Amino acid sequence: MKKLPETPLGQGKADRFTSSGFILAAIGSSVGLGNMWKFPYITGMYGGAAFFLLFIICLILVGLPILLAEMTIGRGGRGNAASSLSNLVHNKNWKWLGFLMVLTAFLIMSYYGVVAGWTLQYTVDSLTGALSKPGMDFEKQFVDFAGGYWPLFWHLIVMVLVGIVVGKGISGGIEKFNKYLIPGFLVILLVLMFRSLTLPGAAEGVEFFLKPDFSALTGESALVALGHAFFSLSLGMGCMLTYGAYVEKEQSLGKATVAIGVGDLGYAFIAGLIIFPTVFSYGLEPQKGVGLAFMALPAAFSQMPLGALFGGLFFLLLAIAALTSAVSILEVPVAYAMNTWKWSRKKAAAIISTAAYVLGIPAGLSVTGVLSSWLPFGKSVFDWFDFLTSYLLMPLGGLIVTLFTGYAWKRAGEEAGLTGFWYKAWMFSLRYLAPVLILAVLLYSLFVKPV
Ligand code: PFF
Repeated sequence: MKKLPETPLGQGKADRFTSSGFILAAIGSSVGLGNMWKFPYITGMYGGAAFFLLFIICLILVGLPILLAEMTIGRGGRGNAASSLSNLVHNKNWKWLGFLMVLTAFLIMSYYGVVAGWTLQYTVDSLTGALSKPGMDFEKQFVDFAGGYWPLFWHLIVMVLVGIVVGKGISGGIEKFNKYLIPGFLVILLVLMFRSLTLPGAAEGVEFFLKPDFSALTGESALVALGHAFFSLSLGMGCMLTYGAYVEKEQSLGKATVAIGVGDLGYAFIAGLIIFPTVFSYGLEPQKGVGLAFMALPAAFSQMPLGALFGGLFFLLLAIAALTSAVSILEVPVAYAMNTWKWSRKKAAAIISTAAYVLGIPAGLSVTGVLSSWLPFGKSVFDWFDFLTSYLLMPLGGLIVTLFTGYAWKRAGEEAGLTGFWYKAWMFSLRYLAPVLILAVLLYSLFVKPV
């Protein structure tokens, strides 16, 4: 086997994460828009606390083993999401499967940036009071906003910012960015949780979120829980794999896995404790996705004392969550371009963030804007991006990772530092449990669930 490059990605002086910096950056990646608007809603819908329990089980049995596998491949292969795989085994064709993950990341980047842009605009609008006019129709407000051209500007700001951070590298860019933002994120989260739990009628929201309803649990709940565990941990698109290439050999990947899992779960849980009491306290409906964050919540904040401030903090929270995830997504194709085409980091970050911006424009304009009535094969461009990545490409990426680590690469246990029981349990998940369950999710989203 060829000797692996000493430096991750074989470039210049070693640019690596510190041990705490890596954990923060990985938590920053996993805690994103998914935790803040998708998790609370599906929990309420699929059985409250019973679903939460199911989610924890999926996270432990399938999510964390794949998370560990991705980080282990990255650190062992010391390359990008494609070359790390082929660096570790004789069959070089694995890099093409890995390349699929790079492509997935690029596609996700292009539309994730659009939503991140909305959060910035809503932060500014909340703080300036533009969202707290009495009698405002928040649905119309969002439809008009997303259908206009301002989102193109905010989307650009996001892509420039993310491009600059990634262009500065791992320790000087991504690690620093997360080190500043995550503690601030935590403070805002706690302030908002305190605010929402002390609102009149908050208990009803907590009950909706957490009352266990075991009768609501179905096979569908289990697949939704699994799919979300996947999305929430940023798996299946080479993100944790690429970050893993910058981790020191001394760092325990097992401990990192536990820390990232606890962080992701904790944030999702607190997000639920913010969102539901707020929505219920003002007699609003907990709607799904875009509707929850950009329509129901602004309506609640507009009626709250100091609502402009709390609304501003909430959208700032969303913006931070989105931006720390976005840098991790952009790093995947950037690392690929540096390795494969020998581009400098700055050049790769500039070109790829620009390309993702351009590709994201039709996605952004298709939500309520000029392209919203164009529905090729029944879905808007935005919905196509989401469907292809979340329901098809990410599970496929996860499958590639499980098969590679479970069957093709024989020395994964050594790199992960696992022996005995933990190694056997890890392999059991990667070889049998995870592939079967991921296939179920794939088939379900393709043939059953009309997304
Ligand atoms: N984990 C992020 C969330 O929960 O919103 C989304 C995400 C980030 C998905 C990074 C994929 C990724 F690579």
